[in-house]
Amino acid sequence: MESGKQLTGTLALAVFTATLSSLQYGYSLGVINAPQKVIERHYGRSLGVWSERAAVPSGNATEEEDEFQEAGQHPAVVMYWSLSVAIFSIGGMLSSFLVGFVGNLRGRIKGMLMVNVLAVAAGLLMGLCKMWKPHIMVISGRAVMGFYCGLTSGLVPMYIGEIAPKVYRGALGTLHQLAIVIGILISQVIGLDFVFGNDDMWPLLLGLSGAPAVLQTFLLPLCPESPRYLYIVRGEEQEARKSLYRLKGAYDATPDLEEMRREKEEANKEPSVSILSLIRSSVYRQQLLVALMMHLSQQLSGINAIFYYSTAIFIRAGVTQPVFATIGVGVINTLFTLVSVALVDRAGRRTLTLVGLGGMCCCAVGMTVGLTLQNEYLWMNYVSMSSVFLFVSFFEIGPGPIPWFIVAELFSQGPRPAAIALAGCCNWTSNFVIGMTFPFIQTWLDSYVFVLFAVLLLGFTVYIYLRVPETKGKTFEEIAAIFHKDRKKSTRGPEDAAELQQLKTSTDA
Ligand code: GLC
Repeated sequence: MESGKQLTGTLALAVFTATLSSLQYGYSLGVINAPQKVIERHYGRSLGVWSERAAVPSGNATEEEDEFQEAGQHPAVVMYWSLSVAIFSIGGMLSSFLVGFVGNLRGRIKGMLMVNVLAVAAGLLMGLCKMWKPHIMVISGRAVMGFYCGLTSGLVPMYIGEIAPKVYRGALGTLHQLAIVIGILISQVIGLDFVFGNDDMWPLLLGLSGAPAVLQTFLLPLCPESPRYLYIVRGEEQEARKSLYRLKGAYDATPDLEEMRREKEEANKEPSVSILSLIRSSVYRQQLLVALMMHLSQQLSGINAIFYYSTAIFIRAGVTQPVFATIGVGVINTLFTLVSVALVDRAGRRTLTLVGLGGMCCCAVGMTVGLTLQNEYLWMNYVSMSSVFLFVSFFEIGPGPIPWFIVAELFSQGPRPAAIALAGCCNWTSNFVIGMTFPFIQTWLDSYVFVLFAVLLLGFTVYIYLRVPETKGKTFEEIAAIFHKDRKKSTRGPEDAAELQQLKTSTDA
């Protein structure tokens, strides 16, 4: 009898289908950067602060340019543009709370299927934005798309974590991030001005972000529902067994079902936990803290600041076409995520996160040195440029992909959806805060801006070294046991039981 460890076609199809949402998330993250000037100009025109006269080549480039500059800096254009960027994160922050609800309502597959309506609607709003007031259409589309991505950035890792065989859980979990970075890269390439990042095509560029959802809608009905959801949440053992056979081929499913049966027993003791009770419960405090710190370390590492700042660094370093260097960053980003896919189930989550964060900390110092001394020594430009590339590489080895899937590993079925929701909200909120405050911090600290991230990175490295256990190759039950063992060592076993009972009573009521 097969061991059930092989990668079957159905499993590959299920993971591919789910990660189409991650591709869409990455695309939406990246798509707004390249065509900024083009879209601002269009907003200016439709708001009447940039006249059509200037759009017609007047032969006087400077005058035209000045007028465009003015339009770009017009308070109304600045406001609508900033809103178009930021509203995406606000949508995600709000919807990430609903991940547990959507995932448990009719299952993971139907959940992902339902929310595709949002992605298609968002794509249409942006794609057809020239038909009405473009700024309103784009802002609405970005809000709906953010809302969609907040849901899927929780649903996808949850589904993959639940269907992946234990030995490949890390590699398959990392595919979520791989699809995100491929999405970012695609948006960078087709956002170039000679592709779609121009006056005529930019609505299509934005609208295309809804396309993967269409393909996914056709593929999802072919994918098996999560066996853990079927057995533990719905109590449908036969259905769970069928789903396991589809995912893993012909094998002896008894050990998997036995593990789920034990988890179900536990789940009966620890009922489906709401977000509020998870925050209040001291039983899960350690796990929750680890989950939130993993997500905070991903965002407060400064990775997105690097994405915004890299172009400026390349300009300072004398690169004539910084946009291509930025695409180079996107390529490195993708390559090193592949390295992580290969390593994560061998080297482990903890080691890769520590190496990644430690390496990023050194690169942040390298960037600071490079930026500070570049006027004195020309070669310092190379120091800052290679620091950017290495920073991104270290990020993708561990701190980028691992937080997304480790939360599903850290929690058993009962609290898992609530934990994923909270961790997702923490991720989206910190991403938003960095996006909003970075320009100000940059003005304030100038070339020392990355010292701030170096300090934060050092702090996270120490925390993870002290507090995060290895989850590689362990069953969900074994992982939960690590935390419970720690807790028993340090505190009160019987009081935990009483608290779980209380949680159960309050949920049953
Ligand atoms: C992660 C982060 C996201 C970032 C991306 C870069 O997915 O959550 O904010 O832009 O990595 O690769």
